[in-house]
Amino acid sequence: MKALILAGGKGTRLRPITYSVAKQLVPVANKPVIEYGIEAIRESGVRDFGIIVGESEAEIRQALGDGSRWDAKFTFIRQDAPLGLAHAVRTAQPYLQDDRFIMYLGDNLIKGGVRELVREFEGGDFDASILLTHVPNPWEFGVAELEGDRVLRLEEKPKAPKSDLALVGVYLFTPLVFEAIKTLKPSFRGEYEITDAIQTLIDWGKDVRYEIVTGWWKDTGTVEAMLEANRLILEGMKHTVKGKIEDAKIEGPVTVEEGAKIVRSTVRGPAIIGAGCEILDSFVGPFTSIADRTRVKESEIEYSIVMDDCFIDNVDGRISGSLIGRGVTVTRSQGKPKSVCLVLGDNSSVVMP
Ligand code: DAU
Repeated sequence: MKALILAGGKGTRLRPITYSVAKQLVPVANKPVIEYGIEAIRESGVRDFGIIVGESEAEIRQALGDGSRWDAKFTFIRQDAPLGLAHAVRTAQPYLQDDRFIMYLGDNLIKGGVRELVREFEGGDFDASILLTHVPNPWEFGVAELEGDRVLRLEEKPKAPKSDLALVGVYLFTPLVFEAIKTLKPSFRGEYEITDAIQTLIDWGKDVRYEIVTGWWKDTGTVEAMLEANRLILEGMKHTVKGKIEDAKIEGPVTVEEGAKIVRSTVRGPAIIGAGCEILDSFVGPFTSIADRTRVKESEIEYSIVMDDCFIDNVDGRISGSLIGRGVTVTRSQGKPKSVCLVLGDNSSVVMP
């Protein structure tokens, strides 16, 4: 059994962050989102990973290395253009060869792992297996119609969904999927859809099974989903304080990494403060992840993700619901005129009080 992780694509809904960081590397609780998927698959015993990469290949290779950190072997596979999930699988065929494989979308997070799913697929003789979950907005996903323990029909981003069961970004396949992919035509959005490939298997009378996710699941493709994923991971993780706490209050589950300093401040968990951070005369509220070497001074922040090397200084009012990229400065103007001064990249968004 091999794994195929998809880390190509464009990440348009997370701009401007994704101009400089691949969406699969945006940190959730200070860890790139893709690493949660890698860990979940490793727990199921799989060691051989093919990783589909696109334009951000160099960055992803550099962040993940050769797999030895997870006692695994990574093979990076370049997809020349993001032409769809099925196109990514076809690109990986020379790597996957005759093996069965688990495919995992690199921007998805699932609580509860995939161990059971992998074990059942290895033990059974189904042709494919998919994960489903109930969602309030099925039109934004691939949607399944079921009959007993079989999948009857699948439709990608349907205008009139037949159920509220969305395809979660985890799939198990045998090499038969390559035959189905060969028959595909581009969809309404111009992509080769894996959803259509699975529908083809169903049309051929093949055995496509499903499982319904019991814990939570997040596709971290939007800022809102990213912040929610951050909240859920922070709530579920084990916290430890290693950094220095001086004249400060740590309330609830909080991680303070080595070399971080919290001075005359309150940090209310669940929250994580990365290595080398300085939190001075500030409030860091629940559901906040502050990555390495960021300084927060005389400011308040909650329900947010702040990446490495930022400086948040003397901000009036509380920062909330924010995703802040690397090396960003947020501060208050000194003296007159009292104006708002912005240096923002393309597709940035600012909400004033
Ligand atoms: O998140 C679950 C949904 O994922 C499913 O419900 C849908 O059926 C499935 O089509 C997919 O929909 P999205 O539109 O959300 O997929 P997205 O374009 O965001 O791509 C998912 C991941 O795959 C992402 O990490 C980028 C990567 N990717 C995407 C494309 C189109 C590639 O590596 N290559 C590609 O060509």
